[in-house]
Amino acid sequence: MSHILGISGSLRKGSYNSALLRAAAGMDGVDLEIADISDIPLYNADVEKEGMPEPVVALHQRLAAADGLLLATPEYNSSIPGVLKNTLDWLSRPVPNALREKPVAILGASPGGFGTVMAQAAWLPVLKSIGACHWSTERLLVSRASRVFDDNGELIDKGIAEKLHSFLKGFSSFIDG
Ligand code: FNR
Repeated sequence: MSHILGISGSLRKGSYNSALLRAAAGMDGVDLEIADISDIPLYNADVEKEGMPEPVVALHQRLAAADGLLLATPEYNSSIPGVLKNTLDWLSRPVPNALREKPVAILGASPGGFGTVMAQAAWLPVLKSIGACHWSTERLLVSRASRVFDDNGELIDKGIAEKLHSFLKGFSSFIDG
């Protein structure tokens, strides 16, 4: 079974995107480990020159041990959230980077009606630039997220649960080749 590293682009406790990853990690036939990026510092080339910060080294190691990367992206101002882009910037260093040819899939949740469609599209040039192997056969846009999760962050929408399972199965098959 392919081992997937999941990263949520939201730091807030009640995050829908983190809840989506937790739901994914609990599904049958899915081997998903979730990384917390709250301790990843802002990228600074001077700091990199002195040596990679410990949280970045640890995340690099978890990425290297994973067969694929799953990004749960919020949408901020019709685009990518800074904390997640910052994390990918660190992971893309040094060159040639650890994300090169790494299978990557994107999903996202938003309380609004468009389910992070703009953010997911905004990731495309980033993944292309990094040289990641983006899996795009299926899409998962979770809109109206306050109805999809309960107050404890449990996924309660059966239709979304089925789509999520199918998405994960498809991504795993892609990774397994
Ligand atoms: C948002 N939000 C938002 N939502 C959306 O669908 N499209 C957007 O362009 C934006 N823009 C935006 C900008 C900023 C600065 C914030 C703080 C929020 C709302 C956003 O989807 C919402 O806060 C989600 O709950 C964020 O994801 P998590 O934290 O629930 O994972």
